[in-house]
Amino acid sequence: MKEKIFIFDTTLRDGEQSPGASLTPQQKLEIALQLERLGVDIIEAGFPIASSGDFEAVSLVAKNIKKCQVAALARAKKEDIDTAYSALKFAKNPRIHTFIATSDIHIKYKLRMTKEEVLETAVDAVKYARKFTDNVEFSCEDAARSNLDFMCKVIEEVIKAGAKVINIPDTVGYSIPEEFGNLIKQIKNRVPNIDKAIISVHCHNDLGLAVANSISAIINGARQVECTINGIGERAGNASLEEIVMIIKTKQRYPMLQKFYTDVNTKEIYHTSRLVSNLTGIVVQPNKAIVGRNAFRHESGIHQDGVIKKRQTYEIIKPQDVGVPSSELVLGKHSGRHALEKRLVELGYKVSKKILDRIFVKFKSLADKKKYVFDEDIIALVNEELGKGRQQFVELNYFHINSGSGVLPTATVELKIRSKLKIMTFREAEFGDGPVDAAYKAIDKILCNVFNLKTVPKLVDYQLKAISSGKDAQGEVIVRFEYDHEISTGRGISTDIIEASIKAYISCWNNFLIKQEVTNKIKISL
Ligand code: KIV
Ligand code: ZN
Repeated sequence: MKEKIFIFDTTLRDGEQSPGASLTPQQKLEIALQLERLGVDIIEAGFPIASSGDFEAVSLVAKNIKKCQVAALARAKKEDIDTAYSALKFAKNPRIHTFIATSDIHIKYKLRMTKEEVLETAVDAVKYARKFTDNVEFSCEDAARSNLDFMCKVIEEVIKAGAKVINIPDTVGYSIPEEFGNLIKQIKNRVPNIDKAIISVHCHNDLGLAVANSISAIINGARQVECTINGIGERAGNASLEEIVMIIKTKQRYPMLQKFYTDVNTKEIYHTSRLVSNLTGIVVQPNKAIVGRNAFRHESGIHQDGVIKKRQTYEIIKPQDVGVPSSELVLGKHSGRHALEKRLVELGYKVSKKILDRIFVKFKSLADKKKYVFDEDIIALVNEELGKGRQQFVELNYFHINSGSGVLPTATVELKIRSKLKIMTFREAEFGDGPVDAAYKAIDKILCNVFNLKTVPKLVDYQLKAISSGKDAQGEVIVRFEYDHEISTGRGISTDIIEASIKAYISCWNNFLIKQEVTNKIKISL
């Protein structure tokens, strides 16, 4: 009999803890809806006590997701659990995920508690959470470095208190596969009532072993895995969802794994990966397994020859199985609407006729500027078009740049700002160290003035890269700025890198303004 491995996706909680990743509630919902299509079992949508934005995001996800369980994180404290449940209360199947550290180092230095106090706090938290729902998960934070006897006692007692899932995190990514698998085996052997709960694992990637440790845990008894899309997460990240799912699917002949399956629709993997990367601004490394740009590219002549003769000589996964389109077909200015539509479907986008028409106009204008339109270009066009459906306060009307050697770079920028009440245009000119700096200063001048901000946001990251190959490739810019300890991210694409830089900065401002409005920090009424 096959056994199911439950996929608990924490992209929106631990993944969002990646440095620089910060999502608006609307963006979190967009990712959650895609995770639902992907077929994950549980979506951890956030940590509601952490901020009003996170609370808002969890409630939005909880209200809209129907096929997956929606989880919210809470420390083992009544106020956290109350807040988690009030964010989750409209979910079809809510899960409260409560945790406390069980390792000596955390207990002594972070919590400053005795072991007895930790045990009592854990049991009380689970009992309290059970008043709201039967679906309670308990995590022993820093489990991999915890004293086994003590941790087993905590697990036994929280199961008696009503926890249905026991999560064993390798919080600091310290384990190696044999050691971590053995830990799971020990828990199964030592905790007398362990059969009343599902064992879950949550591995961090500090030594690059998060996926390997998770697989070892499955072999030794874990039946839920916590993971994130593209492996994003705190520090070196979490176990990558796509790798775990594809290991289980690909190793169906390996005796230790053949009895397991997941309910993930692997054809949605690539699309989900792109969406998460686009919205978080965290670029996927080219050699990343399963979803990296080079994951299915064969460079050496011997390999290419082998693949032409028989794909399996050098390919263990069919790119189409994870939704990577076979990129033999490159579109250009003679390609028609039908070819574009077909390509969009292959790339995993089902768009309405209205949106297809708009994308087609943009596609034609791009094809006039560059010879070949690659998949990356098409994905960028669709994301830009779909992004327009998101709330936008600020839009670019036009910009003019004056720059060159021996010239002081200056920029004139005109923005359209829309509120619920009206639409207004504002124009400013500035000079700077370079044309992008000048344009950013002009934008800041307009927006700080309109939204009454006393200080200018601090630019903390600016990245520019070509999204496809060739001299005429489009440039993609990702920028991050910080305001009041909050990071916002924006992304812009164009064949003109100054335009891409300006679009990215405006999108960063839009994401910032959305968050400020959600948390009531500023009033958007002009
Ligand atoms: O890494 C960790 O220990 C966590 C827990 C809160 C599950 O993220
Ligand atoms: Zn974690």
